[in-house]
Amino acid sequence: MAVTAPGFPSLPALSDPATEAVLASGLLPELAHAFGGPFHFLLPDAFDANLRAMRDALAAAGVDGFVYFAKKANKAAVFAERAAALGAGVDVASAGELREALGHGVRGEHLVVTGPAKDPRLLRLAVQHGALVAVDALDELDAVITLALTGRVRPGRVLLRALPPAQPHSRFGMTGAELAVAMDRCVSAGDALRMEGFSFHLSGYALQPRADLAARLADLCLAARVKGLEAGRISIGGGLPISYTDADAWHTFLKDQSPAHYHAGKSFRSGDFYPYHSPVAGADALAALLATRPENTGGTLADVLRDAGLELLLEPGRALLDRAGATVFTVQGVKERDGYRLLTVDGTSLSLSEQWFNSEYLPDPRLLPQEPLAPAGVFPASVGAATCLESDMLTWRKITFPRLPRAGDLLVYPNTAGYQMDSNESPFHDLPLPPKVVIDRTDRPRPRWRLDRHFT
Ligand SMILES: Cc1ncc(COP(=O)(O)O)c(C=O)c1O
Repeated sequence: MAVTAPGFPSLPALSDPATEAVLASGLLPELAHAFGGPFHFLLPDAFDANLRAMRDALAAAGVDGFVYFAKKANKAAVFAERAAALGAGVDVASAGELREALGHGVRGEHLVVTGPAKDPRLLRLAVQHGALVAVDALDELDAVITLALTGRVRPGRVLLRALPPAQPHSRFGMTGAELAVAMDRCVSAGDALRMEGFSFHLSGYALQPRADLAARLADLCLAARVKGLEAGRISIGGGLPISYTDADAWHTFLKDQSPAHYHAGKSFRSGDFYPYHSPVAGADALAALLATRPENTGGTLADVLRDAGLELLLEPGRALLDRAGATVFTVQGVKERDGYRLLTVDGTSLSLSEQWFNSEYLPDPRLLPQEPLAPAGVFPASVGAATCLESDMLTWRKITFPRLPRAGDLLVYPNTAGYQMDSNESPFHDLPLPPKVVIDRTDRPRPRWRLDRHFT
């Protein structure tokens, strides 16, 4: 565990018994030896628990709902398999993601296809498999109608995606005027199309704007029904926040962080960091959203949905993956600098995607010393990659380790399953992509593991 040295704020990850059990089991050094490079481990039981908690929140609020896993947040097969096994849906945004989800057992009608200006092949597959398409533009709606008419197999299923009035510069969604035209085209399409409702996805994590827009779309559903459309569902996209660290650590960090806390005096703007602590997170944030009173309505969002007889769809990525995995590197070298150390690990910052948003993945990595006699104390260190790029740093921040880091030690970045693992990984420098290891059960002294996929 990292310790707090005077002047160096720390951000310990919230404790997680399943992750602790893996760390304590002795499995990780063996896997590091076997793979000879960095790897990710996945804890799919956490995915199941997060899904259960979201469904419980919907049930407790008396709201009909359906959860789609936003697949972009992690490419692993196991999460699509879990979604299929538990009857959840998957949100896909490419033909590859759609094929993966189907191939791992998710039924076509349990897919929602999101993203802007979708590839015609993706739209064709979506219509053939009865997937719901969140239509982003009028020409896309026309394309779905044409596919449904020419395929003559099944109607196209669509949601109309709204441009959020609070985010008018978003490149996603349709304006109010475009939505009105889209509804008329849906009416004209007749049996070729099932217009199931509306959707949005908001940047940021605030609840009130989500509740406000959901209520506006509920009104639009009522207007669409008057025109004879089905309009029985709204999707609120993703954006349920999660907490990686506790409130105290987070607020102290935001208050105190300064260039002196980073290698090379690097500076980060506090506003560019992901909010690593949220007062309500995951399924609790969903419950809080349902209890939020949208502007200009008498009741809560749950009341609005129930009164309008609407099903709530959601597409969480990060929140379903909270505590569902971690990333393990081996320290290859340690250098002394002015009052701190520079560690070089056997991978790259491409395995921690946050680094590519003027930001940094902040939860403290855990050192697993492989040398029992390493001196104890307070050892600040930043973490660099095994590449020739000056700026390829996994952690610019000086982490205060409780033991002297040494070559051969493992460094475990906690809670990386949501977006960190694979959105930017590349075989740069001919370094292999880190494999993913699934650990199905952590409640036994010796956890069982398997590869997420077998490479051919
Ligand atoms: C349309 C849509 N749905 C869902 C998500 C998932 O968001 P999150 O991982 O924050 O829940 C995204 C993320 O970009 C998105 O664009």
